[in-house]
Amino acid sequence: MISIKKLAESPGLTSVPPTYTFTPNPNDHPVSDDPKDSIPVIDFALFTSGTLDQRSKLVHDLGKACQDWGFFMVINHGVPESQMKAMIKACGEFFNLTEEEKQEFAGKHVLDPIRCGTSFNASADKVLFWRDFLKVFVHPKFHSPTTPSGFREILLEYSKRTRKLTLDLLEGISVSLGLEDGYMEKAMNLESGLQILAANLYPPCPEPEVAMGMPSHSDHGLLTLLIHNGISGLQVQHKGKWINVNSIPNAFVVNIGDHLEIVSNGRYKSVLHRATVNEKATRISIATVYGPSLDTVVSPAPELVYLETNPPAFKGMKYREYLEMQQSNKLDGKSCLHHVRNLAA
Ligand code: SIN
Ligand code: FE2
Repeated sequence: MISIKKLAESPGLTSVPPTYTFTPNPNDHPVSDDPKDSIPVIDFALFTSGTLDQRSKLVHDLGKACQDWGFFMVINHGVPESQMKAMIKACGEFFNLTEEEKQEFAGKHVLDPIRCGTSFNASADKVLFWRDFLKVFVHPKFHSPTTPSGFREILLEYSKRTRKLTLDLLEGISVSLGLEDGYMEKAMNLESGLQILAANLYPPCPEPEVAMGMPSHSDHGLLTLLIHNGISGLQVQHKGKWINVNSIPNAFVVNIGDHLEIVSNGRYKSVLHRATVNEKATRISIATVYGPSLDTVVSPAPELVYLETNPPAFKGMKYREYLEMQQSNKLDGKSCLHHVRNLAA
C-alpha cells in the first residue's frame, strides 16, 4: 500500500481520496473550546530528590491524574531534551527513506519486531487513516532498522531512558494504588516487559476536516509515553468531550493503557484518544508503549479485588494473546478491553 507521505506529495492533490474520507458522526462527542480543559501536569523532579512528604504528595497527585484523567503531562522527567529531539529527527529521516527502502520493514504480523506501514489496522480499517508508522520492539530484546545511519544508536539510548522513566512512573502509580512494594514488578514481569517504540508521521492533509490521523482507540500496554515535534493533533476523551492536548515543550504526555486498567481492577481507566491532521504542517509523534512480558497472564491485583463490593472486573489473559486479538478482525468494532471484561462484575 502506498505511504501517506507519498500520497500527500502527489502533485496537485487538493482533496482526500474517497478511501480516506470519513463521514463525520453526528453523535460524536464535541471538541471542547474551553481553554481550561487541559490534562494535568506532574512535576516528576521530586520523585528521586524529594523529602518523604514531597514524595507522598507527588504520589497523591499522580494517582489523582490517573483516576480523573488517565492522561497527564510529565515535566522534569530526567530524559535529556537533546535525546528527545534526536529521536524525532531520526524518525523523520526514517520516513524520508524511499518507498523501496521502507518496503524491507513492511511486516504483517503484530508480533513482528520491526514493522512499518500506513493507516491504523490496514487489514481491518474500513476507511484508511492519514498516517504512516514504524513500530519497533526495543525490549526485552533490542531491535532496530539499520537505516538511516545513526538511527540505531539514537533509538537504543532513547529506549533506555524512556524505560527508566516508565518504570519510575509505574512504581509511583503502584504506590498510589496501595499495592505492595514490588507487586507490579513481579506480577507483570516488568524486567522482561515488552517495550515498543511507535513513530507516527502525519503529513499535511488537503482536507483535514474529513480525514483522521488515528481513530479513537485505547493503548494496549500498561503505560504509554508520547512526544511530538511541536505540532498539535492529539485529542483525549474526557467527560463527554474531546480535549485538545497542547503539550508543554519537552514534556512527555503519559497515558494509562488497557493492562493498567486491568491490574487496577478498573480504578484507573485506559482513556480513548485519537489524532487529528492539519493542512499545513507535518506532524511526527513518537510513543513508547511499555507492557508486561509477552507471556504474563494479567488479571486484577488481588489486593484491589473485594469479592462483595468490588469483584474482579476482568478475566486473565496473556499479553501476547491480547495483542493478537486486538490486531485480528474479530473485534466487531468493540474495544479489545471489552472482550476480557467480566460482564457480571
Ligand atoms: C497514539 O495514540 O499512539 C499517538 C497519538 C498521537 O499521534 O498523538
Ligand atoms: Fe494511542
